[in-house]
Amino acid sequence: YTLKIDPNATSKGTYEFYMLKEICEQPGVLRHLEQFYLDQNGEPQIKAKIIDMLAAADRLYIFAAGTSYHAGLVGKVLFEKFAGVPTEVGFASEAGYHFPMMSKHPLFIFLSQSGETADSRVVLQEAIKRNIPSLTLTNVPNSTLAREATASLSLEAGPEIAVASTKAYTAQIALEAILAKALGEKIGNENARAFDLKTAFALAAEGAEQVISSKEKIEQLAQKFLLPSRNAFYIGRGIDYPLALEAALKLKEVSYIQTEGFAAAELKHGTISLIEKGTPVIALINDPLTADLMRGNIQEVIARGASVITIASKKLAVDDDDIVLPEINYYLTPLVSVVVAQLFAYYASKDKGLDVDKPRNLAKSVTVE
Ligand code: AGP
Repeated sequence: YTLKIDPNATSKGTYEFYMLKEICEQPGVLRHLEQFYLDQNGEPQIKAKIIDMLAAADRLYIFAAGTSYHAGLVGKVLFEKFAGVPTEVGFASEAGYHFPMMSKHPLFIFLSQSGETADSRVVLQEAIKRNIPSLTLTNVPNSTLAREATASLSLEAGPEIAVASTKAYTAQIALEAILAKALGEKIGNENARAFDLKTAFALAAEGAEQVISSKEKIEQLAQKFLLPSRNAFYIGRGIDYPLALEAALKLKEVSYIQTEGFAAAELKHGTISLIEKGTPVIALINDPLTADLMRGNIQEVIARGASVITIASKKLAVDDDDIVLPEINYYLTPLVSVVVAQLFAYYASKDKGLDVDKPRNLAKSVTVE
């Protein structure tokens, strides 16, 4: 099913919480983005002024907070792979006061669902002072970060009401992929030309739908492994590592289960001492280059008593994997595997009887530093 995005929709409709509604809107958002930003041949349709600004940079600097920061970490992989441009990702809250070293021709990219995050606005003000060009990707086109940047692009995700960001995260990654392809083609990067975004987005939307249709199974796993526990880990390698960080943030911010996202091989350098009998560890296996090593990392935590849930791409899956994801372009696997993590978080929170849309202590947009 494809949910049409109703830009004015601010009712939950038949959903108990906005978070589930917005998770389920993701296939529709991906299809909308594909139609909005790609022509019928799958070629990006981005204003020349923006592509020229990107092409003039010798280094990209992505600044954001929270989930948007995690989308920036995936963006780094995309820009470096498909445009061949070195890309740094930083917490806006740090860069605002400890400004990073600049290359000769920097370009700042701000990722922000609300476009009002104070930490990010501080960095933008500093960029303006230093005459550094900036591009904001936001879900609120007339927001401060959109208006004050040199240029801005809309995430086109429709209103995101739940405090936990879901469809804005996947829209940010999709738009970064579009920009990476457009920039790569502009500067003659072979990977960009070969990147069939139209097909990749279609498969990612189908994959997300497939995950959503297995939400009952995900709820059962959440009830069995996550609900009884006070802590949990997500582990991954390659592009699954930034995904593990986002997956952990989702789970902890709505269910209050202390969760860490970790580079899988890094665990044995200390943190693995936290693993004890029954500790839930959710392992992501989408990276062909390190899949075998990942299986070894999984054995390391099992040996210490962990209860492991495995989420693997079809080609890398083994018989007893808990969740098998449809095969899509490796670089866009976050668009599908994050849906599993979003649903784990949703059900862990809902089945604990919590207010999923309004977790304690949190605001939808953090407009104070
Ligand atoms: C994400 O689930 C959180 N609600 C939070 O981390 C959020 O991503 C962060 O505050 C950044 O917000 P922004 O995207 O509106 O700038």
